[in-house]
Amino acid sequence: MSRRIVLLPGDGVGPEVTAAARLVLEEAARRHDVALAFEEHPFGGAAIDAAGDPFPDETRAACLQAEAVFLGAVGGPKWDGAPRRPEAGLLALREALGVFANLRPMRVLPGMETLGPLKPEIARGADILIVRELTGGAYFGRREEGRARARDEIVYAREEVERVARVAFEAARGRRGRVASVDKANVLATSRLWRAAASELHEREYPDVALEHVLVDAMAMKLVLAPASFDVILTENMFGDILSDEASVIAGSIGLSPSASLGGAVGLYEPIHGSAPDIAGQDKANPAGAILSAAMLARFSLGTEHMARDIEQAVEEAIASGARTADLGGTLGCRAFTQAVLERLG
Ligand code: NAD
Ligand code: IPM
Ligand code: MN
Repeated sequence: MSRRIVLLPGDGVGPEVTAAARLVLEEAARRHDVALAFEEHPFGGAAIDAAGDPFPDETRAACLQAEAVFLGAVGGPKWDGAPRRPEAGLLALREALGVFANLRPMRVLPGMETLGPLKPEIARGADILIVRELTGGAYFGRREEGRARARDEIVYAREEVERVARVAFEAARGRRGRVASVDKANVLATSRLWRAAASELHEREYPDVALEHVLVDAMAMKLVLAPASFDVILTENMFGDILSDEASVIAGSIGLSPSASLGGAVGLYEPIHGSAPDIAGQDKANPAGAILSAAMLARFSLGTEHMARDIEQAVEEAIASGARTADLGGTLGCRAFTQAVLERLG
């Protein structure tokens, strides 16, 4: 029986990197004897243009019935004034799927320490998993729009903190056993709840894991000062959004970073970058983050660890052999880089 995967290419470079991820998934699945059935559905700005809604009911139904959802990227200047923006559709998708835990790994590959902006001796060995809470906080609080005054509300319930902290502690057990929980407990009430809930869960159930608390401003500094000193970083929705873009460039480019959003009925996989309007439609996007998101899909939704490893290894080998898109100082286009990955599968 075929496993159903819904693709939401979205906007800007979204369709380009989604096509790359699909090609790699198809080829890897063929080699591993896994039968996949892909369906594409309108989402984001493209869906506003086609149906007047960034997250049409038909797309929602297809996502909820799929085994996994893959998203390229959404948004762009064309829809910045829309009554319901593409980004609002993305939040609605995450909420509909119930994916509260967003895993964003970043690793500086051995020998690739000069791809990023940091001194190689600082970047060397960095291997971080950011666990970002994805369905709460400022993204989902009450909002008041206004030209004279506006309001965004941050709410967290203890259970929301506990369930995502659990994901971070479990992940740490399979890694180097350390969690840095990031908050702004010197100012925010939600952060004081976050810190207490994470500490108490740690004491009760994960005393074997080393837990430290770091204020978000200090973490922004420490990430570029000593990235190799962190293992798992656990944080709330907005801080995780910001810190994951910062972490991504340590490895070389935001175009390298994948993500998996878990904890709900259906897993959601997306590169962490946006629609990159400045390079869209020019075959310039780095598809590595999308391809690595497809590997996470194979791991977490299909349960095919061998296939996931295969894809990750092919990407690493391609980069190690000198295959580089423009964001990494190379000359390959999105399609040529994808080809370099396809050649190294299996
Ligand atoms: P962005 O991530 O789209 O781009 C930031 C910079 O990184 C740009 O210079 C871009 O060219 C570069 N970049 C991004 N992805 C790249 C890739 N794969 N290869 C090479 N270079 C890449 O962020 P932005 O410009 O702030 O946002 C553009 C739009 O995307 C906005 O509408 C925003 O809301 C949306 N956005 C969507 C998502 C998503 O769909 N998950 C994520 C972030 C931003
Ligand atoms: C991301 C993006 C989204 C977020 C936006 C587009 C809503 O920046 O996936 O990182 O902030 O979560
Ligand atoms: Mn982001």
